[in-house]
Amino acid sequence: MNEDKKREKKEKAAESAASLIKDGMVVGLGTGSTAEIAVRRIGNRIKEEGLKLLGIPTSLQTEMLAIECGIPITSLSEHPSLHICIDGADQVDSQLNLIKGGWGSHTREKIVSYAAKKLVICIEEEKLVELLNRPVPLEVLPYAVKIVENQVKELGGVPVLRREGNKGRYFITEGGNLIIDADFGIIKNPESMNKTLSSVVGSVEHGIFTNATEVHVGDEKGVRIFKK
Ligand code: A5P
Repeated sequence: MNEDKKREKKEKAAESAASLIKDGMVVGLGTGSTAEIAVRRIGNRIKEEGLKLLGIPTSLQTEMLAIECGIPITSLSEHPSLHICIDGADQVDSQLNLIKGGWGSHTREKIVSYAAKKLVICIEEEKLVELLNRPVPLEVLPYAVKIVENQVKELGGVPVLRREGNKGRYFITEGGNLIIDADFGIIKNPESMNKTLSSVVGSVEHGIFTNATEVHVGDEKGVRIFKK
């Protein structure tokens, strides 16, 4: 797809999601290229409208961005209950289940979004599918890699240890862990896969999310909003 068109769709979705932020909110700030657009928009709203809010970042990357954008930062320890969390996703199915973790930040993203009353996802239309079918990222303790690979195979999946670029260095998460992308083909029952993958020993967290409350989809014409 044309990169400019893709960017425009991401911008429409991210701006639509960022417009939901109101004065006094504690806001989860997602990670990735679409979440970045939303974070920058929230920063602009603080400057333009004098909006008062606190942000909880889902990665160091986003924390630095939020500081750059003038968004006051807080923590889950200080604010364990958030009004809203805004984030991107790698794929969204017709029931609003998600696959996340393309940037390897899904552990913190899941924890922050779990603490939020609303999880609002912004994507370009190409990420919307009937059934999820992308490989699911698992953040894995380095000494457990083989054990996790074996469990993924027993569950019928194909595990691939993530590297940066083509055969580059191993991808290392902010938590100092590795990522296994587990290909299960079409995922007919994401709820059940969510529970199954949560029981994989040695995996810190996986990238299936079933807690999205709203998805904003940018397309050629504008934004479509789907709610649970
Ligand atoms: C971060 O780990 C991911 O969950 C991202 O939210 C996801 O990969 C979407 O990223 P883009 O907005 O860059 O496509």
